[in-house]
Amino acid sequence: MNNLNPDSPIRYDRLTMTLHWLTAVLVIGLFASAQTWEQLAKGTPLRKELQALHISCGILLAVIVIARLLWRLSQGKRLPAANKGAMNILAKTAHGALYALLLSQIVLGFLFRWAQAEPFSFFGLFDVPTLVTFDKSMKSVFGGLHEQVAWVIIILASLHAVMALVHHYGLRDNTLRRMLPGRGSN
Ligand code: HEM
Ligand code: HEM
Repeated sequence: MNNLNPDSPIRYDRLTMTLHWLTAVLVIGLFASAQTWEQLAKGTPLRKELQALHISCGILLAVIVIARLLWRLSQGKRLPAANKGAMNILAKTAHGALYALLLSQIVLGFLFRWAQAEPFSFFGLFDVPTLVTFDKSMKSVFGGLHEQVAWVIIILASLHAVMALVHHYGLRDNTLRRMLPGRGSN
């Protein structure tokens, strides 16, 4: 299963690592913010603030995911596969699915906000222009899909994190370390 020399010092480049961990923190924060406001009564200021924060961080996630994909397709460091055979196919499929789900979730988030026809601001600095208008009935369609995709992302990302820990503590290889800053990067 393991395909890496345990002594190999090779790491991903700094920008790849930064974008990966920013993505992870934002995805967890976006999910946690929604779970938190759902416990609060409708119309409370904290609920509205959490929603505004969620939307601003969602816009940030959109920029980071697009930057990450562009960097990966251009100059981002490519490393040898961490697994062999079926496990390699599974890992690659999971990574591809995570990218596809993140992109879908970003599109759904924007569509959801436009269907809500409520303020769409980036930390109060500027407003996102309305590119498409929808009938109010589409609110529940986009909202329902956005919520379902959120759960799929969280479950898949958790399995992905568990596999990273299995590599680190079980197989004792460099898979996790090469995504962490330290000596030997670049
Ligand atoms: C929501 C959270 C996360 C998302 C969306 C995510 C997404 C991804 C994606 C898409 C890749 C593939 C990178 C590429 O080949 O372009 C990746 C790689 C990686 N992730 Fe995550 N990740 C998350 C959290 C984590 C966590 C918590 C850990 C560690 C416990 C982790 C460890 C790794 C490692 C070690 C790699 C490199 C795997 C390899 O070299 O084959 N990730 N991640
Ligand atoms: C992986 C990233 C994301 C996750 C895990 C996530 C998760 C969620 C969840 C669970 C909800 C509650 C859904 C409901 O109750 O119907 C929600 C609401 C929402 N999300 Fe996201 N979201 C993400 C990214 C985004 C992005 C990129 C945007 C775009 C700006 C966005 C915009 C919204 C909006 C507008 C709402 C409704 C807020 C309100 O009711 O006022 N989300 N999100």
